[in-house]
Amino acid sequence: MGEGESARILVTGSSQGIGKAIVMRLASRQHFVLAVSRSKLEYLDTSRYPWADRVAWTSLDLSNATAVEQYAASLENTSIRALILSAVDYGDGARHGASTISTPEWQRVIGTNLVGQSILVSRLLSKLVPTGLGLIVNVSSDVAVTPATGRAAYGASKAGLHAMLRAVEAEHRADGLRVYQLIPTFQTVTEGIRRRRPADFDFSSYAEPALIAEVLERIIATPGQVTGGTYLIRRDGTLQPYDEVASL
Ligand SMILES: NC(=O)c1ccc[n+]([C@@H]2O[C@H](COP(=O)([O-])OP(=O)(O)OC[C@H]3O[C@@H](n4cnc5c(N)ncnc54)[C@H](OP(=O)(O)O)[C@@H]3O)[C@@H](O)[C@H]2O)c1
Repeated sequence: MGEGESARILVTGSSQGIGKAIVMRLASRQHFVLAVSRSKLEYLDTSRYPWADRVAWTSLDLSNATAVEQYAASLENTSIRALILSAVDYGDGARHGASTISTPEWQRVIGTNLVGQSILVSRLLSKLVPTGLGLIVNVSSDVAVTPATGRAAYGASKAGLHAMLRAVEAEHRADGLRVYQLIPTFQTVTEGIRRRRPADFDFSSYAEPALIAEVLERIIATPGQVTGGTYLIRRDGTLQPYDEVASL
């Protein structure tokens, strides 16, 4: 394994759902992973998963900007080649109109999904850019580019992060930094989504988080095959370029 390949891949949202599937997939394929979330990872059992010792977990609350700054500073001597953003605060309870979103909900959702992850991106750029091999993958959402009815805070946070990363991509395209924004065209059964559905909800049409983890691992394992940009993930795991408006 070359020096570049032993550099760490940092994954947010690692304790459950899509982020957990990504950590499991990457670590089981020889990658070294730095995982962050508020709750401890329950799946790091080396007797069950021999690859678990390739994962180093740190407790981090992304809604706490000071803690995010401190965490980024703690990585000063760590080599990082990829940043995967999968953390999300979906907001309070079931869908509710914008007029009913409380100030704490706005602050938590935007603070976690947008501000916390943006600080992480901006502080780690100095590690990702100079190698010319760095990449950022945002597990984005249809709500970043379409109206998020009943989920205005979630939609605003995802659209904000999407725009932030488009700016980063444009600023560093010439430096070789690749930024991927992946928009699933299907729903995935995750703990976060389960909490937002009725107890008797039929999830049979939903995909497993492992599908997105497979797509992501393919991008990381075969650099250069998929150029940076925004992609729709189809249900069969294929990627379809999404045409962004580049200028008006
Ligand atoms: N599931 C879907 O159908 C679907 C569809 C389209 C897009 N997506 C996108 O996929 C990504 C993952 O979604 P998911 O459904 O897997 O979510 P999920 O099951 O709710 O998991 C969210 C993760 O984010 C972490 N998190 C939440 N608040 C945090 C905070 N304040 N600080 C640090 N970490 C925090 C959670 O860890 P802790 O609670 O331990 O901190 C958890 O690991 C999201 O970006 C979402 O927009 C999902």
